[in-house]
Amino acid sequence: MKSVTSLFVLSVLLCSTTVSWSATINSRGVGISKVGSHEFGGIYNFSTFLLDRESGILYLGARDAVIAVDTTNLSKRKTIEWSVPEEKRKSCVAKGKTEDDCKNYVRLLEFLGDRRIYACGTFAFDPQCAFINISSFSLETNEDGSVKMETGKGKCPFEPSQHYTAVMAGGILYTAATSNFLGTMYDISRATGMEQERIRTEQSINWLSDPEFVSSAFIQEDEENNPTGEDDKIYFFFTEVAKEYDLYTKVKVPRVARVCKSDVGGMKTLQRRWTTFLKAQLVCEDRASGQRFNVLTDVFTVQHQPGDPSSTHFYGIFTSQWEREELSAVCVYSLEEITKVMNGPFKELKKSCENWINPEPIPTPRPGQCLNNALKQQGFESSLKLPDKVLTFMRDHPLMENSVVAAPLMIRNGITYTKLAVTLTTASNGSKQQMVTVLHLGTDRGQLHKVAVVGPNATLIEEVSLFSAQEPVNNILLYKDKALVGSPLSLVKLPIVGCSFYTTCEVCARAHGLGCVWSHKDGACAMAKPGKVVEPEDLANQCNKEGLCSPPVIEMRVEQGLRVLLSCVQVSPRPCRWDHPPQSHTRLHNYDLEVQVTPESLGTYVCLCDEVGRDQPPCRRAEYQLTLETPRIEGNVAIAGGRHFLVSHIILFVVGFIMGAFILFLVYKHQGGLRGGGHSSSTLEKGRDLLPSTDTPQSPSSASLLSEAVPLTEKRNGTINGHSGHIVHTGGHNGRHIYANSCGLKLQESAVNLADELDGREMVGPKGEEDGLGEVLSEMEEEFAKLSCLRGAPLAQCEESSI
Ligand SMILES: *[C@@H]1O[C@H](CO)[C@@H](O)[C@H](O)[C@H]1NC(C)=O
Ligand SMILES: *[C@@H]1O[C@H](CO)[C@@H](O)[C@H](O)[C@H]1NC(C)=O
Ligand SMILES: *[C@@H]1O[C@H](CO)[C@@H](O)[C@H](O)[C@H]1NC(C)=O
Ligand SMILES: *[C@@H]1O[C@H](CO)[C@@H](O)[C@H](O)[C@H]1NC(C)=O
Ligand SMILES: *[C@@H]1O[C@H](CO)[C@@H](O)[C@H](O)[C@H]1NC(C)=O
Repeated sequence: MKSVTSLFVLSVLLCSTTVSWSATINSRGVGISKVGSHEFGGIYNFSTFLLDRESGILYLGARDAVIAVDTTNLSKRKTIEWSVPEEKRKSCVAKGKTEDDCKNYVRLLEFLGDRRIYACGTFAFDPQCAFINISSFSLETNEDGSVKMETGKGKCPFEPSQHYTAVMAGGILYTAATSNFLGTMYDISRATGMEQERIRTEQSINWLSDPEFVSSAFIQEDEENNPTGEDDKIYFFFTEVAKEYDLYTKVKVPRVARVCKSDVGGMKTLQRRWTTFLKAQLVCEDRASGQRFNVLTDVFTVQHQPGDPSSTHFYGIFTSQWEREELSAVCVYSLEEITKVMNGPFKELKKSCENWINPEPIPTPRPGQCLNNALKQQGFESSLKLPDKVLTFMRDHPLMENSVVAAPLMIRNGITYTKLAVTLTTASNGSKQQMVTVLHLGTDRGQLHKVAVVGPNATLIEEVSLFSAQEPVNNILLYKDKALVGSPLSLVKLPIVGCSFYTTCEVCARAHGLGCVWSHKDGACAMAKPGKVVEPEDLANQCNKEGLCSPPVIEMRVEQGLRVLLSCVQVSPRPCRWDHPPQSHTRLHNYDLEVQVTPESLGTYVCLCDEVGRDQPPCRRAEYQLTLETPRIEGNVAIAGGRHFLVSHIILFVVGFIMGAFILFLVYKHQGGLRGGGHSSSTLEKGRDLLPSTDTPQSPSSASLLSEAVPLTEKRNGTINGHSGHIVHTGGHNGRHIYANSCGLKLQESAVNLADELDGREMVGPKGEEDGLGEVLSEMEEEFAKLSCLRGAPLAQCEESSI
């Protein structure tokens, strides 16, 4: 706990002169605005977003409250309190629930279409729904002044943290939720509308087996272009426990299920149950590595051709049940493929020898089929008219034989994604317009990542830390060139930026996939002009990048007992691995290797990454030589009471140290200037010569992570400075990182080489002490706050997620 903290900010600083390929843009510079629980008057546990796209008002469901926020000015807010009466709360606690859970967590907000919002909350394990008058922004009341409520059973979960999804279709609410107090029964149901049409799933493990509901979507047929009179459909996405495998372990499977909007249940069989409930397995598998991602976390629905429902695609975040390490993948499924599977063979779930050999013949009309003109002509104008034989078959065969299969667009190790949103743009690559899919991914540690997908290639462009590492992103909403991102405690608005955001050639080159091109003449990044051919290689040459698989060996002199983080860049979807001395104590963070320095751990460390072609030899992405060095830095730069920190870039270390002493000298001499950060002032003039840039607005909340920015695995940061193109590493928490990387773009591969050259500037605290590390960091921050001048200077810190 009480070892010495040595901080070598300056070697990092020094490195930063050359680190132009990654950057952090200060939050102030790009118009990130944030409101937290404090501004919300102590209201938190935000879970639900509902945006009125016309007025730009965002409604947030929270604990015991609903808040309306003006997205053009987040300081304009109104609050409705909606809490559980004391008596009811007590009886809930008496039933064995916690005080916290016996509150009203508003989980559902939907427009009713008549200037009212339907709001449902858990209401102390007795779900209730109420009506919000939008004009007055208040809860509708009964004549006696009490809040007008109706039961929320089947519309909202009982338990605050339960997985749940709901979607409005033609003014009627469709939900997937638990339907009892114990949380042991699950339903996908039509939850509002006419009583006799409120139908649901059969209580059978063949239909739903311990599901975790994730998402839902209403797909409406194109009214103008629907010659066969197809019915509208509602899709549900969830993970459930597979029943079709006879295994002892509970195997999870991701699923898509479909019901039809005009389904009203059967007459005798499947009374008040779906007659159209069909489900299929989703497969998200990387064939090359054999990795299967079987747990679905979130789904975003988007039309590839706006206005054409048949072009709907579903983007899903997946993780794996079996992997110990954090791991996320994104797979995309088209409506067309899902429909094909739903029209294919049914899976036989009743396993008897008989139907194993001769599967039950499929009766007509085809079970699970949605109503259309042809069926109506045959006299089946309602599901009530369907023959028993069809319904019985339907009841016993909810699962399709075939799966909907996709390969991941991207895979990331060491990151857990929680939410995604997708935007589509087109970029000209010279000869042709091509579609660029931009994934906006939220992590469980309060970050937002931006990944551009062009054809088979995914490029990580940017990472922004929006919240503390304890706040998972739980909502992302894209609206008018802005992203509204929520966590349980805060709300952030940030621009979805264009090319001009990237202020150096290297960073611009990385955004090539978005159609960005660097112009040397203007010294700016801009959208490529249609018809202008810009080969990635050209860009790479322009920015003076080198080859990829022959990195220089980086010699590192290390002290015993320290931990170093050796960075390695994964540029293709293929995995990387480390060759290292057999006795060394190591731990992987993404593909970065944390090494505990002991006599046994000295030697050569090589990061090898598989290339796309299977027969190709692995690419040496990084190589380090660790040798022992007697400690030679104490005193001046050390901060008392902390721990060992090591910036691993030793080549620059000594110089950095000397310069550090020099700057500290200056700092002490000029103490008192520059407080509160802001633009550089004359106080730092001398130091300025040493810094590539001091024009670095700093706020206490800004930019903290000394992260080695790198494609898909590595992180680093810095600050883009105006138009000068210099980059400085900074301390703080709201950094915006721009990354380069790609699964294969040559340009980006060469960009990555630079990363290797500049390697391992990570400072790492003692192993397994995340909290302790945070403590040290705040200590450091305090210390540095005292050195007022340094506030404008880079403060290297460790990113929590990389420890
Ligand atoms: C935002 O709203 C607040 C409170 O109504 C107001 O004081 C502030 O001036 C507004 N800001 C802008 C930029 O309009
Ligand atoms: C909503 O409130 C406004 C103003 O109080 C009132 O005039 C209006 O009738 C209310 N609307 C509904 C649907 O109750
Ligand atoms: C509500 O927020 C508190 C504090 O962040 C957290 O401990 C709790 O788990 C949250 N509850 C739910 C249901 O999200
Ligand atoms: C441009 O796009 C076309 C079609 O997508 C592709 O075949 C070609 O390789 C691309 N060219 C470059 C330079 O990326
Ligand atoms: C994807 O990467 C491969 C391999 O580097 C490259 O040949 C191809 O042109 C890229 N495709 C697109 C559409 O950019």
